[in-house]
Amino acid sequence: MKITVIGTGYVGLVSGVCYAEIGHEVVCVDKDSAKIGMLQAGEIPIYEPGLEKFIAGGRLADRLSFTTDLPSSVRRSELIIIAVGTPPLPNGEANLSYIDGAAQEIAMAMDGYKMIAVKSTVPVGTNERLADIIRSRTDEPFDSISLPEFLREGTAIYDTLHPDRIVIGAESEAAAHKMVELHSPLTDQLMVTDIRSAEMIKYASNAFLATKISFINEIANICEKVGADVLRVAEGMGRDRRIGPSFLKAGIGYGGSCFPKDTKALIQIAGHVDYEFKLLRSVVEVNRDQRFSVIRKLEKCFDGQLAGKTVAVWGLAFKPNTDDVRDTPALEIISRLLDAGVHVQAYDPVATDNFRLLLGREGVSWHGKAMEAASGADALCVLTDWEEFAQVNLGQLQASMKRPILIDGRNVFDEENMLNTGFMYDSIGRPSLKQGMKQQMPVLQF
Ligand code: UDX
Repeated sequence: MKITVIGTGYVGLVSGVCYAEIGHEVVCVDKDSAKIGMLQAGEIPIYEPGLEKFIAGGRLADRLSFTTDLPSSVRRSELIIIAVGTPPLPNGEANLSYIDGAAQEIAMAMDGYKMIAVKSTVPVGTNERLADIIRSRTDEPFDSISLPEFLREGTAIYDTLHPDRIVIGAESEAAAHKMVELHSPLTDQLMVTDIRSAEMIKYASNAFLATKISFINEIANICEKVGADVLRVAEGMGRDRRIGPSFLKAGIGYGGSCFPKDTKALIQIAGHVDYEFKLLRSVVEVNRDQRFSVIRKLEKCFDGQLAGKTVAVWGLAFKPNTDDVRDTPALEIISRLLDAGVHVQAYDPVATDNFRLLLGREGVSWHGKAMEAASGADALCVLTDWEEFAQVNLGQLQASMKRPILIDGRNVFDEENMLNTGFMYDSIGRPSLKQGMKQQMPVLQF
C-alpha cells in the first residue's frame, strides 16, 4: 500500500519505518525541513534504540522516503496517517491545531479517494471534527479511521512490530477491511470498533496504566510505614492474573509525553460532559507528590538542612533508554533542590543536553560519567532506572563520595547487597531490611 505519514515524531517516524519494514511504500512528511534533511541523510532526530538500523545505510531506501512536500505525497498515497503532536494547552486540554492544520492541507491536496487515519492521541469526537474540516474544503471521497498508537518510547520498534493489539475505529466496512489487511502481518489481535470507542480506548488505557502506577506508589508509601516491602507486595499482587505484574513498579512516579498529558486531557474531556473523574484526579495528584519523596528522604538525612550541600543526581530522562525529558520527575526534583540552595551534580547517559535546555537555570554541574557526577557529593539520588546504574562498583562509588548517602528513587539496587556496604541507603517502599527498622516499626493494633 502507498502510505503517507504526517509528522516525524516518535509515533510518526516509528510507524513509517515499521510499515516500510513490512513491505509498504511509505513517505514521511514533516514541516520541519531540518528534521527532514537529517532523515534524508540517514540521521535520526530522536534517540530510540534500534531505529538507526532501519534508517541509516538506506536499508529501506527503496520504499521509505522523507519530504516536506505534503501535497504531492498525499496525492500518490491511498492511506494518509496523521501522527502530529497534540501537546497540552495550559488547562490540560489537547491542542488540536496541528491536527486541524494537517486536515486542511490534506483536503487541499486531495485528488481522489483517500483513507485518512489519525494515530495522534485525540479527544473523542476529533475524527468527526477532522472529517468536517475536510468536507468543507473538498468534494473528494474519503473514509476516516481512528488508529490509536500504544508504543512505548525506548521499545517503540518492538512494540510496533509486536503489538498486544491493534484497534481500528472505522465507520466504513471497506476501509476497516483494508486496515485489517494492512495490520494482520503484525498481530491477530485486531479489534474493529466505532471511531469514538477507538478514540476513548487510547485515553482509557493510558489512564488505567497511570492509575496502576499511582496505586503501587501509594502502597509503597504505606509499606514504608508498616514495614512491608513493596517489591514483594507487587510480586504477590501481580501473580493474580486479574491484576497482572506489569506497571506495578513503585518509584518517583510517571513522566513522559503521554501519561501526564493524557490523564489531564481525559479529566478535561469528562469535565466537558459534566462528569468529574475523581479517581483520575487523585492519580494525577498522587503522581505529582510522589516525586518529592526523594526530597523528603534527603531532608530526613540532613535534618532539614539542605542548603550548601552537594547532591549528585543520576538519571534525568523520564525513564531509561530515551533522551526524552518531557514531564520528567527530575525537573521538579532538581528545581526544588536548587531552590533549597543545593549544588547539583547531574549525569544521564543520553538526556543531559535536552534536560539542560529544559531546566534553563544555573546551579547544576553536568557530567559525562556517573562516577564523576557522584564524586565529592554529600548524597546521591537515582531518578531514572538506567541499567548501567545497577552495574556500578559500589565500593568505588562510596569511596568517591563525601558521605555515603544513597536515595534510590527507582529501586534500582538490590537492598540486601546495599546492607553489605557502608551506604546509608533508602529507596521507595522497602524499609523491611533496614537494620533496626523492625524495632522502630509501630506495633499495629486493631
Ligand atoms: C506510555 C504507554 O506505555 C504507551 O502505551 C503509550 O503509547 C505512551 O505512553 P511511555 O510514556 O513511552 O509509554 O513509557 P512507559 O514505559 O509506559 O512509562 C511511562 C512512565 O511510567 C515512566 O516515567 C516510567 O518510569 C513510569 N513507570 C512505568 C513506573 O513508574 N512504574 C511502572 O511500573 C511502569
